[in-house]
Amino acid sequence: MPKSKSVFVCQECGYESSGWLGKCPACMQWNTFVEERQAAPVKGTHVQEGFTKPVCLGEINSGNEDRGLTGMKELDRVLGGGVVRGSLILVGGDPGIGKSTLLLQICNTINSGSKILYVSGEESIGQIKMRADRLGVKRADLYIVSASNYETILTLIAAEKPGLVIIDSIQTMYTDAITSAPGSVSQVREVTASLMKLAKGTGITVMIVGHVTKEGAIAGPRVLEHMVDTVLYFEGDRHLSFRILRAVKNRFGSTNEIGIFEMRDSGLVEVSNPSEMMLSGRPGNVPGSVVVSSLEGTRPMLIEIQSLVCATNFGVPRRMATGIDYNRLTMLMAVLEKRVGLQLYNFDAYVNVVGGIRLDEPACDLGIAAAVASSFRNVPVKEGCVLIGEIGLTGEVRAVGQIDKRISEAMRLGFKSVIIPEGNLKMARQIKNTKGFDICPVANIQGALDLIFEAGG
Ligand code: TYD
Ligand code: MG
Repeated sequence: MPKSKSVFVCQECGYESSGWLGKCPACMQWNTFVEERQAAPVKGTHVQEGFTKPVCLGEINSGNEDRGLTGMKELDRVLGGGVVRGSLILVGGDPGIGKSTLLLQICNTINSGSKILYVSGEESIGQIKMRADRLGVKRADLYIVSASNYETILTLIAAEKPGLVIIDSIQTMYTDAITSAPGSVSQVREVTASLMKLAKGTGITVMIVGHVTKEGAIAGPRVLEHMVDTVLYFEGDRHLSFRILRAVKNRFGSTNEIGIFEMRDSGLVEVSNPSEMMLSGRPGNVPGSVVVSSLEGTRPMLIEIQSLVCATNFGVPRRMATGIDYNRLTMLMAVLEKRVGLQLYNFDAYVNVVGGIRLDEPACDLGIAAAVASSFRNVPVKEGCVLIGEIGLTGEVRAVGQIDKRISEAMRLGFKSVIIPEGNLKMARQIKNTKGFDICPVANIQGALDLIFEAGG
């Protein structure tokens, strides 16, 4: 009888220790250690990998990349053009954000090759049926099972031979090989590793749902991300109806793309024209509101940035950034003080990106600075104007990538002018059909502000 070993595992980061610790030396969290028993491996069970010879790259036949479309364009784009057969995809997100809804919905349209097995450890089959009815999911070869034991699931997979298995959620699954509780780091890691082997060995595509902890990591966190092929995060404000699907890791495509959905009564609806959605409800001609053209992957998106600058009541003025980097905001405000002469030091400043979007692109700098300046001067930005440009510490406006896409999007949505960095002018001139649309190059932030406030001050 092999002796079982007991280890203490940090439930946040997976750090292992032979004794209990109050504070995890790896992630610095307190009270995260839980004792987990690990049965020592039975002798002789280690599978010897067959002897393999290295093969010259040129001689390897990769075969055709076998992808199945999910039938949801937004999801297909995030995945890099559909689901690769035999891959393991992890969909993470806050509880209640819509992960189960998304996966159940794609069952209707996905090209999975053969049957789909939907394993839920969270809901009964009756509840899933109710949800499926509401979402209009009617696929004949979709099989639902409520189970959470990994060995049971394996038996089911062997019997049903599905082409796609959906596991909802990984935190509810447990394997008999480990005695620790479902949802613990060891269980989550072990079950995921076994699913990975299953996917690679049989060519079955596996999608797993993973809930995210308060700190924003998938429970059993980093441990899972490096094991799977693709990690998608489903995010958004639960109080707003927009949902954004983002690839954090993708072995079969780029991680720059995002997919945008709207949660309605009848489930998730794709938003194929995000700029229009982001700008709906935008107040006309008010100080502190500007529109920037940001690029998410290959797709340009027009997004509104709002700012409010008001006199401070405290010794140290407050700065608050939602949707943009706080340090970037303070840097841009410093540039405005020094290079433009705006005396912001005794004013609070709040900046918000509308729609719960996060903008990390430097190309939005000019928009952020203009929003702050507009609110400070209490003068609206020139009507129908989109701002593009990165700002440097000397106040210069620097060129950004893919200016043509950004400008075309502004034109498509009926804007009248765009302010761009001088360095981008040559490329912008190549855009066709710009009649009636103003492309204004600027060299520095002062020049940009002169242009956008020309109307009123
Ligand atoms: P769900 O997919 O259960 O979330 P998760 O699996 O990520 O925990 O989504 C639940 C939320 O979605 C719930 O708060 C209600 C909302 N919802 C709708 O608004 N419309 C719908 O058609 C469905 C199925 C859910
Ligand atoms: Mg769920």
